[in-house]
Amino acid sequence: MIDHSTIGRILDAANISDVVSEFVTLKKRGVNQLGLCPFHNEKTPSFTVSPAKGIFKCFGCGKGGNSVNFIMELEQLSYPDALRWLAKKYHIEFEEKEETQEEKLLKDERESMMIVSAFAQKYFSRYLLKENEGRTVGLSYIRERGIRDDMITKFELGFCPDGKDLFTQAAQREGYKMEFLEKTGLTIKRDDWVRDRFGGRVIFPVHNVAGRVIAFGGRTLTNDKKVAKYLNSPESEIYHKGKTLYGIYQAKRDITRLDKCYLVEGYTDVLAFHQAGIENVVASSGTSLTIEQIRLIHRFSPNITIVYDGDEAGIKASLRGIDMVLEEGINVKVLPLPSGEDPDSFARSMSASQLTQYIKEKETDFIKFKTQLLMETVENDPVSKARLINEIVRSISVIPDTITRTVYIRECSRLMDVQEAVLYSEIRKIQNKQSEDHTRKELQELQVKVSKPVVPGTEKNVANPFETEEREIIRILLKYFHQEAFEFEDEETHQLNKYSVGYYVLNELHGDGLISVNHKVRSILLAMEENLGNKEFDPIRFFTQHPDNEMSQYASNLLSEKYTESKRWSKSGAFIETESEKLYEIVPMLIKEYKLKNVKIMQDKLGQQINEASKNNDEERTRELQTQYQKLNEVINALSKLHGFRAIT
Ligand code: CTP
Ligand code: MN
Repeated sequence: MIDHSTIGRILDAANISDVVSEFVTLKKRGVNQLGLCPFHNEKTPSFTVSPAKGIFKCFGCGKGGNSVNFIMELEQLSYPDALRWLAKKYHIEFEEKEETQEEKLLKDERESMMIVSAFAQKYFSRYLLKENEGRTVGLSYIRERGIRDDMITKFELGFCPDGKDLFTQAAQREGYKMEFLEKTGLTIKRDDWVRDRFGGRVIFPVHNVAGRVIAFGGRTLTNDKKVAKYLNSPESEIYHKGKTLYGIYQAKRDITRLDKCYLVEGYTDVLAFHQAGIENVVASSGTSLTIEQIRLIHRFSPNITIVYDGDEAGIKASLRGIDMVLEEGINVKVLPLPSGEDPDSFARSMSASQLTQYIKEKETDFIKFKTQLLMETVENDPVSKARLINEIVRSISVIPDTITRTVYIRECSRLMDVQEAVLYSEIRKIQNKQSEDHTRKELQELQVKVSKPVVPGTEKNVANPFETEEREIIRILLKYFHQEAFEFEDEETHQLNKYSVGYYVLNELHGDGLISVNHKVRSILLAMEENLGNKEFDPIRFFTQHPDNEMSQYASNLLSEKYTESKRWSKSGAFIETESEKLYEIVPMLIKEYKLKNVKIMQDKLGQQINEASKNNDEERTRELQTQYQKLNEVINALSKLHGFRAIT
């Protein structure tokens, strides 16, 4: 229990920007501070801290509150535990009433798992430094590998006694429950035996961003190839390997300070870099890099340098990593190492200043890296050169930021002696293909076709459930094609760009792969798309005077009284002005309804299929279809939340 006056002292001390900065890099924005929200994935910062008010608020996911709420949310702690966390940070000492047995039981599972992990870490450390076996076996191994004592302290290395269950017994003697020893994977228990997972291994504790131990890696001391070199804690309630980066706690300050992060492969690589004075380094721990890990780095800096082993697997891994990192809008460099070296062996083979020098000289941006690597195989063969260009352009095409992309294209053009225009056109091809593939894949995944395949010339007979919506969309396009009703802020420059109704609508339809069953609608949209940038294009004239009689009739009908007086938007007599003034609201709503209807029709079809499948007692298929149905529910939810845009002033 924490008494009131203590709570007051803690709240007074817990400065919001101070607390938040421990996890998020904040930049000044007027009186507030801005950063990437730690509670949801985002590329553009919408997480705001107001030091004056003592609160944070994310305009992306809606989370907000004071310092205590922030810690509760981030560390998944209860209110009293968040207060304890803050008290520790600000060195506020206070007496706490001893917890009752009941209160102990009430502590949630995660907390119990972290507590037993903290105990294990201390036990392993003490065993390494103080016990005879730890010193003669573990410590001497660590020292032989050239790891300094200050690194042992900093990374809280340890040793687990070599025996069946010595650690487990000790933990149980101290009152730790088998349940949590098992859930953290520290102990392996079967019906008739119990043993320590890490017996006889050197221990590398894995810390979360806040510095709490959530897992362990244990290295064997034998060279026996049959013994796994590293054993790691299993996935658990507190440890998700793919979301964790080894060393992030020890590195986060320097990643922020130097605005850059080195990414290596393993535990020893991280240690070797620290030992050479380079502290902004983390490891993906042997797994292939995940998007969550990249985003974790992005919370502190958008600059990553990948330092992988100089062997073929390492190079492949860097190339794989690169595209993923680029896609996240991160600037990526590569530090190639001499063949046969890993960051650990390499860093230890030279002095700290030599390493810094090497990095300065050899760090290359990814275009150069990829080009040089691939150029070796190309020489003067035009076919392979074309393939190489395509390969590199593919990487460039995933970069979300236009300016960065432009810089890379320029460099690529210079390095490979190809005109920029050629590269741009390649990129466009790839992007078009990607969006097509994406759409097709989604539809395939859902295994539902919105419309029956249309045989040209027969579509007159196909009922079009979207007739009303499509007419309305085309009517709006005909009338307001060029009107700049939308405004978007450019992520990088924060400049406001205006977009026309034509651009907005076609982009939305295209992005979701919505294709009409009506061939007239398809032709009209296609012609509009072809004329998107064309200021001379007058859609009303173009379509009402179209040589195809059907087409001109369709357009004329749309523009005639009957359809213009669309009841949806006409509330009062003065509705014409209202419509053109309210496009920023009307158009997104219209598109949203169109999409919603599409999804609902898909759902109806799914519903029929589910009935059929369950009639046939096909359980597997029923379940599968139900999952798809559920997915569509999520889409509906997301769509329903969309609102119009704010007015352009
Ligand atoms: N790894 C693992 N399990 C293994 C092998 C590797 O989890 N059986 C992970 C570890 O995080 C390891 C990283 O992959 O640190 C890189 O593997 P490797 O290069 O083989 O290990 P090193 O870090 O070089 O370890 P050492 O120097 O002790 O050989
Ligand atoms: Mn290695």
